[in-house]
Amino acid sequence: MDVIFFIARLTLLFLVLLKDVYTATPQTYRMEEYCQGEISMIMGDFHSGKLVFHSDGMSNCSVTVASWYTEPYIQFYFEDFEVGTDDCLRDKLMIKDGNSVYSTQITGLGSKLCGSEKPDDVYRTFTRYLRIEYETRRVYPGTPVHFSIIFNAFDVGICDSWEIRCDNGRCIQDEMNCNGYNPCGDHSDCKLPVGSIVGIVIGSLAGLAIVMTVIVVSICCYRRRKFRNMPSQGRVPNTTTGYVISTFASHPGAIPSSSNPWYSTGHQQVLLGTAYENSPVPPMPPAQISSQPEK
Ligand SMILES: *[C@@H]1O[C@H](CO)[C@@H](O)[C@H](O)[C@H]1NC(C)=O
Repeated sequence: MDVIFFIARLTLLFLVLLKDVYTATPQTYRMEEYCQGEISMIMGDFHSGKLVFHSDGMSNCSVTVASWYTEPYIQFYFEDFEVGTDDCLRDKLMIKDGNSVYSTQITGLGSKLCGSEKPDDVYRTFTRYLRIEYETRRVYPGTPVHFSIIFNAFDVGICDSWEIRCDNGRCIQDEMNCNGYNPCGDHSDCKLPVGSIVGIVIGSLAGLAIVMTVIVVSICCYRRRKFRNMPSQGRVPNTTTGYVISTFASHPGAIPSSSNPWYSTGHQQVLLGTAYENSPVPPMPPAQISSQPEK
């Protein structure tokens, strides 16, 4: 039973590791650290991320996220949204499809975003850039401003071998599949390569089970063989026992060969006990001295 629990626990650990290897959690980028700058997916070698902004509302900040040439679009959605009051008088957020102040706004999003009502669609760019501008006219700090945006690069057309195809025709990096962040935008990830993931999991489980079985069986066999071998040297037939006794009897006090561990001091009494029972005439007590120092 212990063995089964051990194998189960090991398997669970293995699965957890496997999931970490096969899915990529978007890394967090703090927008404040990139103000008036660019976050480049190519430079950072990533395909998805989480942009987080926290501010006391006392300074402007704009950031451009640049995608890959091979995946020239960005999809994104808000996870969290708290930008001043609903009138956009003091704080506002402007999201643009491009890398300049003059770029067009995102399809489906208003030109100015504010308040605490989170825009809850998944949006996309038609350029390689997503520009986020936070503008404030505050003269004193008030309610903190914070929002976070989950984004990832995608491609359309024929997907590459390292990509998976979403139901909406987008291609995304297969490492994003099933990462829990809706990388397709239509929740159609976790479908296609699930077959291969299941295959990998089942294959790994079977492999693990075989390895564990081999280990368990060999440990058991080794133990049993060792157990069987040890007494078989001492469990000699009665005739031989007689011979052993006579040896002891004819040489009382003789120290039996210590090269054979069965005859060494630790087991001697056990062996002699059985020997007396089988012997018609009890021999003289032998070899006690072997374990005691002479005085
Ligand atoms: C932020 O930008 C706007 C528009 O350019 C400007 O009116 C405002 O004073 C700026 N705010 C700060 C804190 O610099």
